Amino acid sequence: MRIDIVTILPQLMESPFADSIMKRALEAGHAELHFHNPRDYSRDKHKKVDDYQFGGGAGMVMQVEPLALLLDELKNERDYDEIIYMTPDGERFDQRMANFYSQKENIIIICGHYKGIDERIREHYVTREVSIGDFVISGGELAATVFCDAVIRLIPGVLNDETSALTDSFQDDLLAPPVYTRPAEFRGWKVPDVLLSGNFKKIEEWRHDRALEKTRLRRPDLLEREIENNSEKNAK
Ligand code: ADE
Repeated sequence: MRIDIVTILPQLMESPFADSIMKRALEAGHAELHFHNPRDYSRDKHKKVDDYQFGGGAGMVMQVEPLALLLDELKNERDYDEIIYMTPDGERFDQRMANFYSQKENIIIICGHYKGIDERIREHYVTREVSIGDFVISGGELAATVFCDAVIRLIPGVLNDETSALTDSFQDDLLAPPVYTRPAEFRGWKVPDVLLSGNFKKIEEWRHDRALEKTRLRRPDLLEREIENNSEKNAK
């Protein structure tokens, strides 16, 4: 998978991909990240890429021309499955969307700054607008980083143990159950007996029950979805 990222601050996105799972995924060629700076497409002598908004109001807006020139160039080079704009007023990102994009070949992600980007880019280039949650951060780079990490780790072969993505929180609309490692007892705090029993059926049941219990308490909305999915599956 190739991800082209449009950003005036590529350095904000470098270190999360320079370590651990993401580093290995990139080194193994599962994903490629390419950064493109709109400043390189600015005709302004100071390489300015933002301006005051028409109609007045606080905050600068990223100008249409540098972004349009950059996106034209990328689109001339290859076909893209999607051009995504990270914005707090976009569609809410979730595990389902991460799964969907982990199967794509080429996507562009635009990171906004200031008040956002000129609406004409959204109208004429962007195919999907994505938010990482109901809060505002200072620019699209951290949102794009979250998006890329969640997507790349789902590309087959990225995780060592293929099954570990399957037991993540949200993968089947349930939060993840608790996990423990050695020692089996610390300061009198014991690991649940069932996990030491070697009875895999019992262990799976225990994990499912704990996941269900946690989801019921913290995210009952996810259970509604699971009930819907199961009734859809059973109907097939
Ligand atoms: N840019 C600023 N806040 C954002 C958010 N919550 N999601 C995506 N992009 C953003």
